[in-house]
Amino acid sequence: MYNIPIRPRRNRRNPAMRSLMREHYLSAGDLIAPLFVIDGQNKSQAINAMPKQNRLSIDLIVKKCQDLFQLGIGAVALFPALDNSIKDSVASESINPDGLLPNCVKAIKTALPDMLVITDVAMDPYSSDGHDGYVQNGQIINDDTLTILAQMAVAQARAGADIVAPSDMMDGRIGVIRKALDEAGFSDVGIISYAAKYASAFYGPFREALDSTPSFGDKKTYQMDPANSIEALREVQLDIQEGADIIMVKPGLPYLDIIKSVKNTITLPVCAYQVSGEYSMIKAAAMQNWVDEDKLILESLICFKRAGADMIFTYYAEDAAKLLKSTN
Ligand code: PBG
Repeated sequence: MYNIPIRPRRNRRNPAMRSLMREHYLSAGDLIAPLFVIDGQNKSQAINAMPKQNRLSIDLIVKKCQDLFQLGIGAVALFPALDNSIKDSVASESINPDGLLPNCVKAIKTALPDMLVITDVAMDPYSSDGHDGYVQNGQIINDDTLTILAQMAVAQARAGADIVAPSDMMDGRIGVIRKALDEAGFSDVGIISYAAKYASAFYGPFREALDSTPSFGDKKTYQMDPANSIEALREVQLDIQEGADIIMVKPGLPYLDIIKSVKNTITLPVCAYQVSGEYSMIKAAAMQNWVDEDKLILESLICFKRAGADMIFTYYAEDAAKLLKSTN
């Protein structure tokens, strides 16, 4: 009897064959570009630990959005980098209708009504304590934070945000924010919940970008323990019950197992965040010519798709969109 040799390589013989076999695709429409906003005109500030990413004034953010939109990127996520003098213990600036973030949202929506604008709901960019929640006697007070977050989300919706993205990890915030948005007439404004957000050192460069390093302690009483995975499903289920529209897992590449198990468990779209430290690691190695940056960008992003992410926040969004254009 002829013993048939099994040859999986037959299906990988040439580009056309590999194209037929391909299981997952990446497109610019999957990507969300995080942007750091600063006050002023025509201002671009380098971020030391994130080469090629800059804090931009609103006029330059609008230009950046135009470039991104041309490249097929339909969504941006805004993070305001505020002067420390504006920060206080209750994040008052976060509900100022004429603040930096609302003004940026308005400017983008005026210039590019079809660009989806996602805003971050958490106290840290506005808090003198650098924490995502309200601090009293060295403790993060959950329920007092919820009131502030609900007001913040409504202020962002009023400015024109399409989606609000609570990244704070307080208990119960999705329900409170959903109710506040609905009562204020913003039932169309969606919620991306950072549901499984881990206490991660990969956020370091982001905290430099916003100058938002906690003034004391760490975020381990609200962000998750990197050793846990079942707990992620519990967080995700609660946020779905409370009314989330999209579920986020964060950080990205080291947490692909979480993305996969969330994707396999729920029917909501799953979003991944390739966070600042992941960007910085690739960038730093690329700057030494130790790795091929372009290839790593596309490889890392397709890995998110393979793991089950429907969409990806990435600082490489613009580069990836350009690469996708040139390889197609
Ligand atoms: C805080 C927030 C963080 C990030 C997004 N929102 C940092 C943190 O939790 O300390 C990190 C994003 C990144 O590292 O790119 N609300």
